[in-house]
Amino acid sequence: MGGDMQMLPGSSHRPALKRPVWIIFFVSLVSLFLACSYIYPPHGDAACYVFSSKGCKAVTDRPLPSPARELTDEEFASKVVFRDILHTPRIQPKYSKIAFMFLTPSSLPFEKLWDRFFCGHEGKFSVYVHASKEQPVHVSRYFLNREIHSDKVGWGKISMVDAERRLLAHALKDPDNQQFVLLSESCIPLHSFDYVYDYLMHANMSFIDCFFDPGPHGNGRYSKHMLPVVEKKDFRKGAQWFSIRRQHALVVIADSLYYSRFRDYCKRGFDGKNCIADEHYLPTFFHIIDPGGIANWSVTHVDWSERKWHPKSYRARDVTYDLLKNITSIELSVHVTSDEKREEQVQACLWNGVRRPCYLFARKFYPETLHKLMKLLSF
Ligand SMILES: *[C@@H]1O[C@H](CO)[C@@H](O)[C@H](O)[C@H]1NC(C)=O
Ligand SMILES: *[C@@H]1O[C@H](CO)[C@@H](O)[C@H](O)[C@H]1NC(C)=O
Ligand SMILES: *[C@@H]1O[C@H](CO)[C@@H](O)[C@H](O)[C@H]1NC(C)=O
Repeated sequence: MGGDMQMLPGSSHRPALKRPVWIIFFVSLVSLFLACSYIYPPHGDAACYVFSSKGCKAVTDRPLPSPARELTDEEFASKVVFRDILHTPRIQPKYSKIAFMFLTPSSLPFEKLWDRFFCGHEGKFSVYVHASKEQPVHVSRYFLNREIHSDKVGWGKISMVDAERRLLAHALKDPDNQQFVLLSESCIPLHSFDYVYDYLMHANMSFIDCFFDPGPHGNGRYSKHMLPVVEKKDFRKGAQWFSIRRQHALVVIADSLYYSRFRDYCKRGFDGKNCIADEHYLPTFFHIIDPGGIANWSVTHVDWSERKWHPKSYRARDVTYDLLKNITSIELSVHVTSDEKREEQVQACLWNGVRRPCYLFARKFYPETLHKLMKLLSF
């Protein structure tokens, strides 16, 4: 890791001293320095620079402090706004709702399954659909007239993040929405509505996937153009499918500082890298502004074990009782780095400090699995 130390530019304007005066000044400065270092033995990082001897061993093991730097007006303003939003006490309206936000090109193949999931829980949820290609045809009343204004979405492009922000803005309009879940057309619910509602409503964190990947598909995508706002050591990776609480939804909408850096410098082909904005923007943003407020795993399961560009997609023949049982019983979140070490980062899914199953939803399922899922899922 290691922070990118920034050197302060030295004073370029030096008064022209006459030679003897200059020498006397230099000699006294050196004596003063030696006297001082005798009285105060070296213990800081700066002293290490001069006394590059064994005395500094212990010092180099400590993380380097972030370079002291004056924030720009934009950074300062953002910091103040984020802090205020994050410290707003959680209000629990009489009827707290979960906003289910669907990001889809067109029709949703699992509407029938979601219809059964929602049925009987009116007043505790709201549905929003961002259809980026064509107007969906609905089979469930819960999805009728729930489309928001949408725009085209390109895989790995900032337009994906724009669509997420659009969904959040529409869902935030309803003050009863307290949790905001982003889902795709290939996502399915794994548990009953009540289970999901209690899990999300009473969690003390937002579920944003976030990990440090030193490899080419992680920090290899970082661009120095993001400096000084985003340092390489803070760059993170994670799947886009989040579930966040209201204050976190608000900071996402309020952010233009980090958003603009990712819009401009995290894209495919930029700087010879294939940066994918939706895999890095929110993990990095929350890692910087509220690292203790996020779980670091997503409540939406996906199987990356095939190690391809896209995760495993389940066919009808793959969907069995065992598969669903396996997914719903996972209590560990695993991240694998993309460098040659392929290091596995394993973390127990701690929900308010208690170990619980990690997943409420799962992807990616082909439309052909609907029939089997309707039979196997009994909520
Ligand atoms: C998530 O990771 C950050 C470090 O990136 C850590 O500070 C935080 O405690 C983690 N969250 C949980 C719930 O473990
Ligand atoms: C479920 O998990 C068990 C034990 O890890 C494994 O042997 C089995 O192949 C898994 N089944 C499916 C369908 O994924
Ligand atoms: C969530 O609750 C657990 C258990 O009480 C606690 O350890 C953790 O710090 C809490 N996290 C936040 C962000 O409040």
